[in-house]
Amino acid sequence: MDISIRNLSVRFATDSGEVPAVNHVSLSFPDNKVTGIIGETGSGKSVLGLSILGLLQPNATVLGSIMYGNRELTSLKEKELCKVRGKEIAFVAQNPATSLNPSIRVGKQIEEVFRQSQKSKAKSHEEMLKLLEQMAFQNPRKTARLYPFELSGGMRQRILAAIAVAAHPQWIIADEPTKGLDAVIRNQVYQTFQMIQGQYQMGMIVITHDLLLARKFCHQIVVMYCGRVLEMNQAKELFEHPMHPYTQGLIASLPHLGMKAMNGFSPSFTDQPSGCVFHPRCPYATEQCRVEEPKTVPYKEGSVSCHRYY
Ligand SMILES: Nc1ncnc2c1ncn2[C@@H]1O[C@H](COP(=O)(O)OP(=O)(O)OP(=O)(O)O)[C@@H](O)[C@H]1O
Ligand code: SF4
Ligand SMILES: [Mg+2]
Repeated sequence: MDISIRNLSVRFATDSGEVPAVNHVSLSFPDNKVTGIIGETGSGKSVLGLSILGLLQPNATVLGSIMYGNRELTSLKEKELCKVRGKEIAFVAQNPATSLNPSIRVGKQIEEVFRQSQKSKAKSHEEMLKLLEQMAFQNPRKTARLYPFELSGGMRQRILAAIAVAAHPQWIIADEPTKGLDAVIRNQVYQTFQMIQGQYQMGMIVITHDLLLARKFCHQIVVMYCGRVLEMNQAKELFEHPMHPYTQGLIASLPHLGMKAMNGFSPSFTDQPSGCVFHPRCPYATEQCRVEEPKTVPYKEGSVSCHRYY
């Protein structure tokens, strides 16, 4: 089942005012495909991911629609959402420290998920070791016996990914699943995801700063900036013909393309530029860009939000 977001806005109430972290986002995440969400820090990627499963903090207000098949996730009661979480849509959080049980060995935490699907103790143990190996742990037996505090952040992230996979959900949303890992292990984790995605025909949303792996691994890419989707398209199309000046800047800053850093910084959420939010950094900004927010127009199989294209 596809996940379809329509006109989603998320605002946080804070002491220093309202933070509009996600603004009027409409997106479809197709089933059986991998969608990557990219964009600089603070662009609203995690908030968008968390909003799908109602995992935002209590100071959040969510407006708009998130359909999963024919269910409206934003209006499900907490009890009904709990049934969706993990079993139908699993979330691998960006901060793994708070998501594992600190007093249970990590192997047992994965085994318990297999046990819930009626697997025997021996079979669950065997599958847990296999999964740890697939998740690039060199010594699965030794790792299984460790407690979360004995693992590095990157290792904990992979344990969380293993827990998500063990439940065989229809969807996995992974927030920075390879943060802090070296290039070889990063590749290995993505390959495991790719294998599992193909094997179980599941949908995936991968939030990442790693543009090169996103290009290799994702079918479609969503580019976020200041809580907005500036561009989305098939991965190949987006990397070969980026339309939005921000996407062009992100791609030009890749090491093998000259590492040309983009001018300026993302603005703060409480003091957003008028018109196009990207205009203070855009080499093509016109007077119209400074006053009028661009519409989102279809382009190939995706869309782009920039005055240059209509
Ligand atoms: N509970 C909250 N209360 C107030 N502001 C929040 C809350 N949660 C997130 N934000 C703000 O929402 C904005 C978007 O945050 P988000 O975590 O989605 O960014 P991100 O794109 O995931 O960044 P990163 O790449 O660093 O993980 C940020 O300005 C963040 O400070
Ligand atoms: S709308 Fe204008 S400022 Fe915004 S990205 Fe397009 S050209 Fe640049
Ligand atoms: Mg994040």
